[in-house]
Amino acid sequence: MEEDKLICSCFDVYKSEIYKAIKGNELTNLQEVMDITSAGTGCGSCHESIQEILDEVLEN
Ligand code: FES
Repeated sequence: MEEDKLICSCFDVYKSEIYKAIKGNELTNLQEVMDITSAGTGCGSCHESIQEILDEVLEN
């Protein structure tokens, strides 16, 4: 995987955590990622980035 990246600065959630949460819990949408990781539950500006990770994981 590429270098880790801070995705949600409100809750300090990195790409690797979101990736693992999606894989480990078979998440399929943004709301589920928010529930499990807290990422995206603050200002909301990271929603697009989270969705991109979801798309990436779900494609593979
Ligand atoms: S950066 Fe993710 S909710 Fe604010």
